[in-house]
Amino acid sequence: MTTIDTLTLDLAPPPGGQILHATDRATVIWGDCRDPQVIARVPDGYGLLCTDPPYGVRFNSGRSNTFAEIAGDDGSVDWPGVLADWVGRTGRTRGLAPSRHVYVFGYSPEQLSAPLRLGGAATLVWDKLDLGSGDLSSPWGPGHELITFGVHVKRRSDRASGAGNLSARLRRGSVLRYPRPGRGRALHSNEKPVPLMQDLIESSTVRGDLVVDPCAGSGSTGVAAVLEGRCCFLVEVNRADAEQCVQRVQAAERIAAQIAAA
Ligand SMILES: C[S@@+](CC[C@H](N)C(=O)[O-])C[C@H]1O[C@@H](n2cnc3c(N)ncnc32)[C@H](O)[C@@H]1O
Repeated sequence: MTTIDTLTLDLAPPPGGQILHATDRATVIWGDCRDPQVIARVPDGYGLLCTDPPYGVRFNSGRSNTFAEIAGDDGSVDWPGVLADWVGRTGRTRGLAPSRHVYVFGYSPEQLSAPLRLGGAATLVWDKLDLGSGDLSSPWGPGHELITFGVHVKRRSDRASGAGNLSARLRRGSVLRYPRPGRGRALHSNEKPVPLMQDLIESSTVRGDLVVDPCAGSGSTGVAAVLEGRCCFLVEVNRADAEQCVQRVQAAERIAAQIAAA
């Protein structure tokens, strides 16, 4: 096991990133997920891409809240293009394993199907059971977020023939109802509820699979993966958030170990 003392670190991650935490269940890298050296660290043939990249909308701009503006959220980054590198742009053995699934928050199937080589895709709705503040000139408050589900099909001919379409195991309603992390208690301005992430991960993987999140934020995907008996590979560019990932993943590892020993 490796866990780094982060007090000694610089403010920006080094080229290739810095592994902050590595165990048999979890890897947390402080780094830029656009960096080819960071992408090269992810094991090929992994089991699920589950991520919540910046939406390119300057989410925190102008808001009076406790969180800084999200890195990479100014609209200058082609996030579907970045994620294409994470599933593997070429070949059958690179990146995400063939016919495995992706979940991406905030982007539509139209934006993701070509770069992520999706043979089947669906839009899921996360109902936050809450009315966000948002644009107060609109009578409709933002109470939901969209998630694209897709099946990654490596071969163009298989995608064209419809191979690898949605699995029957996922035949269920497309609205997922989970309260968002409470105001004042959230660890990140865009934190996702761990039970929601557990639902996605449990639906699309088996125990021991590797779940990858290149824009990990506070680490909700990693916590959910570890609690579900899966492994996680997380990358986060913001140092404070990457440190938060380590703390939360370590706590989840302790819980998973206690459950395994019981
Ligand atoms: C929408 S938030 C993810 C929140 C997360 N789902 C959670 O539950 O806490 C997107 C995250 O991507 C990170 N990010 C932005 N650019 C990045 C990059 N180039 N490499 C890695 N992470 C990046 C941001 O710092 C931010 O924490």
